[in-house]
Amino acid sequence: MSTTAETAIRAEITRRGPIPFADFMALALGHAEGGYYTAAASRPTRGGDFLTAPELHPIFGAALARQVADAWERMGEPSPFTLVEYGAGAGTLALAILAGLRDDGSPLAEALAYAPIELNRHRLAELRARASAAGLTVVDPAGPDDRPAAGVVLANEFLDALPVHLLEVRDGRPREVRVTVGPDGALGEALDEPANPALREQLERLGRWGIALVEGQRLEVRPAVEAWAREVGRRLAAGLVLVVDYGAPAADLYGPRRRAGTLMTYRGHVAEGDAGAPYRDVGERDITAHVDTTALGEALVGAGLDLLGETSQAELLVGCGLEELLQRRQARVTRTSEALELRSAVMRLLDPRHLGGFRALLAGRGIAAEPPLRGLTYRMPRAHRR
Ligand SMILES: C[S@@+](CC[C@H](N)C(=O)[O-])C[C@H]1O[C@@H](n2cnc3c(N)ncnc32)[C@H](O)[C@@H]1O
Repeated sequence: MSTTAETAIRAEITRRGPIPFADFMALALGHAEGGYYTAAASRPTRGGDFLTAPELHPIFGAALARQVADAWERMGEPSPFTLVEYGAGAGTLALAILAGLRDDGSPLAEALAYAPIELNRHRLAELRARASAAGLTVVDPAGPDDRPAAGVVLANEFLDALPVHLLEVRDGRPREVRVTVGPDGALGEALDEPANPALREQLERLGRWGIALVEGQRLEVRPAVEAWAREVGRRLAAGLVLVVDYGAPAADLYGPRRRAGTLMTYRGHVAEGDAGAPYRDVGERDITAHVDTTALGEALVGAGLDLLGETSQAELLVGCGLEELLQRRQARVTRTSEALELRSAVMRLLDPRHLGGFRALLAGRGIAAEPPLRGLTYRMPRAHRR
């Protein structure tokens, strides 16, 4: 039986013919009634389909609080200081950052205003109630005509959900994967010439970076990141941009290790990456693909921001004092279960094969890069890097 999202996708294909995978993904995740991310069900939690770092344990937010405070101090402690969060969910990360600031005795806790950007209205309602209970002021994110804010733009596991174009190299040329209805009536794929100019531009860029694609290779390209970077550039008068996500620099992302691409789906904590996975239970499973951090860095620079550095999530957290935060919390726990939960969360946050291997990219406007930002001060010994 077709889901609401699949019905909408089929109608789109009937109207336009085969559609780019990016259009399929945008509807599967964001359709107003039947999209994966617009549903009432809570997704990134233990009972949901996957577990993000903020939902795993508040120590993640407590560590990021130190990077946020570091940026604030470098900027001369402006007030208000706006935390713009893309893909804010129910506000779990922002609340952990606030709690971390309070725990550290940082005066930034009093200056913080929270501007969440979240397409799910159910999550936004929860977020408002939780923020109000915690004494965190929620403000509307500035519109394009409003005055830009001084603050931090945060995006944890947000960009990987933005639609990607899917490509496959055939007869020596990248062809675009389009989603269509096959002769058997099921959703399937057809290859076509890449028509979208933004897509062709991204492909030319791969050539300029010296990346050679090979026959049969599948890859994802996300032009939507450019529009996102421009929006961030307009929103932020001065401050820090911190992106944490599944990702890799272009040379790694499109290199020999990943000839099948990075497209992955999640449902009920089961990851499936086979070519048919996105077309099963449309609107009820998450679809993600790694973020190209080289393209993201270029897009942010193109939007007028300075690139401050890139590191792994594990290194970011250690640089922010995760060990000391762990010790502080260990000294306070009263139950064995709490102690075990804390230890296991820290292991997962640092494990390079899990959340620790995520990439963190830091950019900014009006922020001194020297001495290095707190989150960029630690490098793992080489043997422990992925
Ligand atoms: C993987 S979840 C991550 C949530 C949270 N940042 C975390 O780390 O737990 C992605 C979030 O981004 C939201 N989202 C996806 N696409 C969006 C868009 N175009 N605009 C705003 N929010 C979006 C989803 O509704 C979801 O809450």
